[in-house]
Amino acid sequence: MSTFEEKFGTTPDGSWRAPGRVNLIGEHTDYNDGLVLPIALPNRIVVTASRRDDGRIAVASTGHKGITEFAIDELTLASVGDWAAYPAGAAWILRESGYAIGGANLLIDSDLPSGAGLSSSAALLCATSVALLGLHGIDVDPAEVARLAQRAENQYVGAPVGLMDQMASMCCTAGHALYFDIRAMSTDQIPFNPAADDLALLVVDVKAPHRHVDGEYAARRKSCEQAAAELGVPALRSIAYDDLDNALARLHDHVVRRRVRHVVTEIRRVEDAVALMRAGRLREVGPLFTGSHASLRDDVEITVPELDVAVDTALEAGALGARMTGGGFGGCIIALVAADAAESVLAAIEKAFAEHGFTAPSSLAATPSAGASRLS
Ligand code: GLA
Repeated sequence: MSTFEEKFGTTPDGSWRAPGRVNLIGEHTDYNDGLVLPIALPNRIVVTASRRDDGRIAVASTGHKGITEFAIDELTLASVGDWAAYPAGAAWILRESGYAIGGANLLIDSDLPSGAGLSSSAALLCATSVALLGLHGIDVDPAEVARLAQRAENQYVGAPVGLMDQMASMCCTAGHALYFDIRAMSTDQIPFNPAADDLALLVVDVKAPHRHVDGEYAARRKSCEQAAAELGVPALRSIAYDDLDNALARLHDHVVRRRVRHVVTEIRRVEDAVALMRAGRLREVGPLFTGSHASLRDDVEITVPELDVAVDTALEAGALGARMTGGGFGGCIIALVAADAAESVLAAIEKAFAEHGFTAPSSLAATPSAGASRLS
């Protein structure tokens, strides 16, 4: 008997997947109406589902015991807690937005490490959304599903995240990075195949415990919004790179000034990276990664020793560029390396971690993969 039949006593009607992501560059820019460049990972969350006709949703996970059950019509903000808040939030926002989803049994399975900064929350929200919509025959544009998933995370789960992770999970395509302009809500698929240039992208989970992540993220966002208000613009995206010094001179708080400097220079680094990739000059993107890391460390102050040691060691071991990726305070680094140096760079990071007494890191395959889809 399958796990689904064991949990729910019935057979599934279908299954849907949504992947995690790593962002190549463009960090803490999405909530400033900026630019991002994520790839989707092969690692994903799969939701296997069957329809119910009693208006109730039952959620189980291969990684947790028990079943959480609720009536869709009775869902109110914060009525479901813990990890089940994500599938409940997805159901809640779909109903709030007028989509006629009905009851369902949902089994969640994941090979995406949670807490590693690879967007397992966005993947769970997106996978549940596409499962609930698909199960009830409702067709919704992928970018709209991403927006709904973000609203669920903002309003139901209570995390003030931007739109990058959900868009990556919904809209990436295999072999490409997703160049996403948040202000324009436009996307472009940028071919990304490091192996063609004898390069490799290493993704290393530094296994650092997340510390005060939610409050720190919200504080970064608030500083940016405060700066935009002081400068009289709708979002920091409006500050042109050539106008940065002028804008900085008008801000009095030195912390806020540093946050602004990061956002404006990081948006410029994304533009430069995309131009280089389009010109077939991927190797030269390395220094932009390294510049991004320095900015996240010094101006946004969201790195931890594990991230800095991993990046510094990768660079010392010959990486062309390296940076933390994701929200910060733990998670993963990425490093662009010559393909034949991948193993020695990884070994150098492992050795440095052992010497520092850090938990051993682990690495993931960074194959640029497709966004959410139906599996069966
Ligand atoms: C988290 C958020 C994203 C984005 C990144 C930082 O992953 O979910 O919206 O802000 O941090 O770039």
